[in-house]
Amino acid sequence: MRSELLCIGHRGAMGHEPENTLLSIEKAISLGASWVEIDVCFADGHLIVIHDGRLERTTNGTGYIKEKTFEYLRSLNAGKDQKIPTLEEVFATVNGRAGLNIELKGLQTTEPAISLIKEQIDQGWSYENTLVSSFNHRELLNAKRLDPNVLTGALIVGLPIDNAAFAEKLGCYSVHLCIDFIDEVFVEDAHKRGLKVFVFTVNEPEDIARMELLGVDGVFTDYPERVVKTRAGVASHGG
Ligand code: G3P
Ligand code: MG
Repeated sequence: MRSELLCIGHRGAMGHEPENTLLSIEKAISLGASWVEIDVCFADGHLIVIHDGRLERTTNGTGYIKEKTFEYLRSLNAGKDQKIPTLEEVFATVNGRAGLNIELKGLQTTEPAISLIKEQIDQGWSYENTLVSSFNHRELLNAKRLDPNVLTGALIVGLPIDNAAFAEKLGCYSVHLCIDFIDEVFVEDAHKRGLKVFVFTVNEPEDIARMELLGVDGVFTDYPERVVKTRAGVASHGG
């Protein structure tokens, strides 16, 4: 029997709360996400949880995060009076209640992220509950070089001619594909190579059900409760 579709809260539960905030992460867990995905950037010596290289879209700040001090970044409102979290705060908030998918954005994130993961593992976190992903596949290799135990997931938007071969070459645990490109051939190929297939961003109940029928292993969603509900519906119809 196939295991159930993994529910991965996208930037926490960004359909409900400001993306990549501690509030959003709490919401994702409370709605039944078993994993939480967040985006991590490096600025002024710190790993911070934010999607864009600039501040305007998600905060009341302006400019490039790279040009700002940590003090300034932390003074900003990321929505509903939330601060831009540090990656360390995210670990403390999740506190073993869900898996954590750390998407590395921008450069210089890999080394500090791997160091922090190692620290967290020394304090009781587990490798099985940690997944480092990136569109930057060189950095995924770098992550593996720094810590071969760390699980990695290769992100792509597109459909390579040799399907999931690139992710196998990278020694990945999983491949993360955009919903616009996923098909049966890709899923089958990835599974043959021993890779999990996670799809982003899947918000519509009919798409969630379709992913389940395609044999996808997990979905990133802004609305974790919809995955929980759709999953139950498909199961009750014998799917
Ligand atoms: O990790 C899945 C998804 O978050 C990748 O795209 O742009 O939302 O970070 P993006
Ligand atoms: Mg992301």
